[in-house]
Amino acid sequence: MNQDELKKAAALAALEEIRALAPGAIIGVGTGSTVNHFIDALAGSGILLRGAVPSSEASAQRLAAHGIPLIALDEIGAGALPAYVDGADEIDSGFNMIKGGGGALTREKIVASVAHRFICICDASKKVATLGRFPLPVEVIPMARSQVAHEIARLTGGIPRWREGFVTDNGNHILDVSGLTITDPRALESDLNQIAGVVTNGLFARRGADVLLLATASGIERSERAG
Ligand code: A5P
Repeated sequence: MNQDELKKAAALAALEEIRALAPGAIIGVGTGSTVNHFIDALAGSGILLRGAVPSSEASAQRLAAHGIPLIALDEIGAGALPAYVDGADEIDSGFNMIKGGGGALTREKIVASVAHRFICICDASKKVATLGRFPLPVEVIPMARSQVAHEIARLTGGIPRWREGFVTDNGNHILDVSGLTITDPRALESDLNQIAGVVTNGLFARRGADVLLLATASGIERSERAG
């Protein structure tokens, strides 16, 4: 199987997790090519949902094109999001992730933060021993971009590069930070978010995944975070 087929296999496995929810549930839906497979499969699955909270304009458009009702986060009550399904750029054995390769990290982090369970769908190439080979995306307020880049370099020793020409759904810019070996993802996530001008960064450690559906050449490996 090629990488795209593996992404599709992971997406199909997530359908079964959603099928197990109470009928009429609301779910959070992430962003990216793996999630696109999930949205397409959800549309033809016969699963009865009240709707989906999207983490990006792109996912909102895809959900709407399939006739899946969109629900704004503001419209739902506390505890009303039993599951959030999303991909990752890297995931480690502690279920910490780097996300934001598609630039949707801030809304992804917001929707994930209110979901009861984060279901991560990935092909096997995303599983790593240590996070950091994939450049870490950081969303920044445009006027602060250069200053934030200097501060990130000073703080981490990494190399921030402006994702030129890209504007997030929130009207902001992205710095992709390469050269990191992230041994303490929770600490780095917090430290980066303390820099004035940072909206958020693509480390999902304080709110990592709960369930990982990893598509490998020999099938889906399902694992759950301990505790
Ligand atoms: C989007 O901003 C990202 O967080 C994606 O979830 C991540 O980049 C995975 O993308 P693919 O499913 O396209 O690999």
